[in-house]
Amino acid sequence: MENTYIKRLGEYTIRQCSQEDLQAVISINWATLPEHYSDFFFEELLKSSPETFLVAQYGNQLVGYIMCRIEYGFSATHRFGFARKGHIVSVTLLEQHRRKGLATCLVQEAIEGMKRRGCSETYLEVRTSNSPGIKLYEKLEFRITSRMEEYYRDGEAAYLMSKPLE
Ligand SMILES: CC(C)(COP(=O)(O)OP(=O)(O)OC[C@H]1O[C@@H](n2cnc3c(N)ncnc32)[C@H](O)[C@@H]1OP(=O)(O)O)[C@@H](O)C(=O)NCCC(=O)NCCS
Repeated sequence: MENTYIKRLGEYTIRQCSQEDLQAVISINWATLPEHYSDFFFEELLKSSPETFLVAQYGNQLVGYIMCRIEYGFSATHRFGFARKGHIVSVTLLEQHRRKGLATCLVQEAIEGMKRRGCSETYLEVRTSNSPGIKLYEKLEFRITSRMEEYYRDGEAAYLMSKPLE
C-alpha cells in the first residue's frame, strides 16, 4: 500500500498506515494501552478502513497511531434510526511524544477519512479513569452519551462518547 502523506506537525509527519508499519503499531499498542488485539484484527482494520488508520512519525520512528472501524448500526449520538459511524478503536502516542497536539491531529484527520467514507457520526469508548483521553475528546467536541459498567475485562466502566459529523 502507498504511504499516503497527510500533513506535517512540527517535526512530525501524519500519514496513512501501511502493511509494513503494522509491527511498530502493535508494539506501540503494547507499550501504551491495556487493551491488546490479535495481529489479524490490526490487519483487518487496515484493509477495511485504510483512510482512518493513521500513524505519526518522528524521523524514522513511528510514535503513535489511530485506528478506526467504519460501521453501520444504531446511531450513537442518540438520534433516531441507523447511521454510518466511524468507531475510534484506539488512539495512542508514546509517552515522550504526548502534549504536542498529535492526538488532536490524528483524530481530526481520521474524522476527515470518516467523512470521505460517508459517516455521519463518530464514537468511541474510553475508561472512566482516563482523564487525558476524556479531556482530549471533549476538546474535540465529543460528548458523553452513556456509561457502560464493567465494560473492560478488569471491571472498569467506560464512557461512550460521540460526535455528529455534519
Ligand atoms: C490521551 C492521549 C492520546 C492524548 O494524546 P496527546 O497527543 O498528548 O494529546 P494532544 O497533545 O493532542 O492534547 C489535546 C488535549 O487533550 C487534553 N490532554 C491531553 N493529555 C492530557 C493530560 N495528560 N492531562 C490533561 N489533559 C490532557 C488537553 O486538553 C490537550 O489540550 P492542551 O494541550 O491544549 O491542553 C495520550 O495521553 C495517550 O496516548 N494516552 C495513552 C493512550 C490512551 O489513553 N488513549 C485514549 C484512549 S484509546
